[in-house]
Formats: sequence, structure tokens, C-alpha cells
Amino acid sequence: MAAAQTLAGRVALVTGASRGIGRAIALRLAAHGAAVALTASPRSREGLEASRVAIEGLGGRAALFTADLADAEARSTLVAQAEAALGPVDILVNNAAAIPAYAPPSKMPLAARQTLFEINLQAPIDLIQQALPGMRARGWGRILNLSSDMTRQPPIPYPGPAKFVHMLALYGASKAALDRYTLGLAAELHGSGIHVNSLLPYKIARSESAEDIARQTFAAHPDWIESVELMAEAAYLLIAGRHSGEIAVSRELLARAQQPLHALDGETVIGDALSLVTFEN
Ligand SMILES: NC(=O)c1ccc[n+]([C@@H]2O[C@H](COP(=O)([O-])OP(=O)(O)OC[C@H]3O[C@@H](n4cnc5c(N)ncnc54)[C@H](OP(=O)(O)O)[C@@H]3O)[C@@H](O)[C@H]2O)c1
Repeated sequence: MAAAQTLAGRVALVTGASRGIGRAIALRLAAHGAAVALTASPRSREGLEASRVAIEGLGGRAALFTADLADAEARSTLVAQAEAALGPVDILVNNAAAIPAYAPPSKMPLAARQTLFEINLQAPIDLIQQALPGMRARGWGRILNLSSDMTRQPPIPYPGPAKFVHMLALYGASKAALDRYTLGLAAELHGSGIHVNSLLPYKIARSESAEDIARQTFAAHPDWIESVELMAEAAYLLIAGRHSGEIAVSRELLARAQQPLHALDGETVIGDALSLVTFEN
């Protein structure tokens, strides 16, 4: 039996869809019938192909596009390319993000700050501005931005080396700015049929790039680690539902909604909001 086709006829554009949370969200949207435009940087063509194959394996439809989101010109045609291939973009998931350099806030160089804010803040806003006219004309749209717990300074005593926490301050600042934009846009679009939300893992989602930190943290804080399936479940809830103007924590959202946790096929129940991941040794 297939997952409920609640997004049949919809087109989604998911950035950073070559792996991790982005791939998981793309698969989950496809499982519910959305055609998905997958994008990442030109470094990730192979990962995007793998995402496309996985979507087709679920019986879905996908197309892939590469663009370096740090480059305003390269990203300026992404929505148009997706629309030419699949049709009007109804759902935009701004998942891609980067940490171009690790340095404490006192030392982060200008070039790294500029790249970080281009990828994590300006690119999502540009893609939103590209997709919005069509969404407005059709009176329906869903925009989901990915945020992070790092928008806030972790309480003392810091978990792990303080050095590591300080390295993430500028990344957190870019996500805090995106959250503020999310709330402002949701308010501007109130009543338009276009819903705008932000989603963050409770602490760490076990994407490939977060695997090491997830494994290291698990021993002391098993409840801090969640699966990418949990993020995809929460993303699906925000997109299929009627929320707008939420900065939602994945686990809290699932718990509030009493929503079971499904595999990326959108059908197989694998747990709930309290599910912990397991690591082999
Ligand atoms: N995993 C966590 O624990 C965690 C915690 C809090 C928040 N988040 C947020 O959740 C989202 C996904 O996290 P993740 O761990 O799945 O990320 P990830 O594994 O690092 O993947 C990031 C994705 O973004 C793409 N990307 C990065 N820079 C790009 C650029 N310049 N142009 C185009 N694409 C680019 C990457 O593709 P390329 O390889 O081609 O660059 C990749 O597809 C991010 O917004 C992250 O900030 C994650």
C-alpha cells in the first residue's frame, strides 16, 4: 500500500537534496505524491542522482539541478529551471546550509562571513522571492526553512569543548536571521494561502555530515540525537498541515500532534516523537 497521496499534483524544490536531511525530506514529499526538484552544488551531482533514483524507487518523479548557492547569479534561475522541468513550484524547502570556516566569533574572517550569510540567509530569501509570485497567483504555497538550535548560545556548562560551541556562533547568527525572516514573511503572507515555517532538530539530526558528532554525543546525551526520518516527518507535518509562522522543533511538533514516526516511504511506522537512534559499535 502506498502513502496517502496528499501532495499529488504539487511540485517541491528542495535545496541540499544530495544527502542528509534534504534527501530525507525530498523522499518523504515524493512518497506523498509531490514531484521534486532536487538541487545541490555541482560537487554533489552523484548524491543528487542517488536521491533521484531513490525517489523513482518509491514510484515518484524528480529532476535535478546544480547551482552553487553562494553565487547569486548561479542561484537566480533555480526556480525557473525547476518549473520548466516539473511545473510551478508550490513547495520550497530551504534546507542547504554551510559552515565555510570554523573560527570563533572574534576571529571569523570577512570572506567566510560573507559566504556563510550568502548560503544560509541570502540564498533562501532569493529562492523565496523567485517562487512567491507563482504561489501568490495560485493562492497556495508552502515555504520551509531549516534552522538550528545554535540560534541560541548553549547554557553553561557548555556541552563538549567550549571552542567547538564558539565556532558555531556565526552559523547560529545566520540561522537566527533566517528565523526572523521566516516570522516576518509568515506575517506578511497571512491569509494568502502561503504558509511559512522553520524547522530545527531538537539538537542533532543524524545526517552523514553530523554522523561523527552524533556518535560522540550519543554516549552522554542519547536523547539529543534523532534520525533524518524524524526531521522528514516533521517537515511533512508542516507542509501538509495548516501551520504558519512556526519555528518548530521536530520532536516537540510530533509530540504535540501525537504523530507516529514513519519511514521515508511515508507508510511504515517506525516509532514516535520519543524514538532514539541506535548505533552499532
Ligand atoms: N544535522 C544536524 O544535526 C543539524 C542540526 C541543526 C540544523 N541543521 C540544518 O539542517 C539542514 C541540513 O543539515 P544536514 O546535516 O543534512 O546538512 P549536510 O549533510 O551538510 O548537507 C548540506 C546540503 O546543502 C548543500 N550545500 C551546502 N553548500 C552549498 C552550496 N554552496 N550550494 C549548493 N548546495 C550547498 C550540500 O551540497 P554540497 O555538498 O553540494 O555542498 C548538501 O546537499 C541545514 O540547514 C543545517 O543547518 C542540521
